[in-house]
Amino acid sequence: MTDASGPKPPEWSREDRRTFRTSLYRIIKVHPHFLNRFYQVFLASSPEISEKFTHVDMEKQKTAVKESFFLIVSAATDRAPWALEQLNRLAHQHRKLNITSEQYALWRKSLLNVVRECDPQFDEDVERSWLGMTNFGIHYLQHRPLK
Ligand code: HEM
Repeated sequence: MTDASGPKPPEWSREDRRTFRTSLYRIIKVHPHFLNRFYQVFLASSPEISEKFTHVDMEKQKTAVKESFFLIVSAATDRAPWALEQLNRLAHQHRKLNITSEQYALWRKSLLNVVRECDPQFDEDVERSWLGMTNFGIHYLQHRPLK
């Protein structure tokens, strides 16, 4: 469904947020470098994607992306103004990068595969919570009308 403000953002509950956070902390405990694995998988998923990261400082990138997960969940559950503001900035930045829908789909697929691999308690609920987070983030970066 599309209206004047773009497609409706996906629904996301506080329960999903709890499941997501618990999963993320569990993963970090067992695999502190799981974002290395994510970028390994994501960059290998397409030459056009790895090309975009040629001049990017990957250490900074990993920290920023982990923080953006929390940003997205705050925006998705509370519509926290500070989080929406920062997502807006992230959206501006990403729209200049000419990222296709297929590349966003690879971002989601790579992340979900790495979560499946790294979370010892991965199940349907965990999968749904990560899917919700990625769908919300992608929705904002791609479709949100920019301020
Ligand atoms: C919802 C999905 C995504 C999220 C949450 C996300 C998040 C981020 C964050 C937090 C940064 C660092 C911003 C900064 O501090 O400067 C970043 C940078 C970047 N992202 Fe994404 N990203 C997403 C999807 C993608 C996709 C699909 C691509 C490419 C195919 C991509 C390419 C890049 C590049 C190239 C940079 C570095 C830009 C620069 O330093 O100039 N991102 N992203």
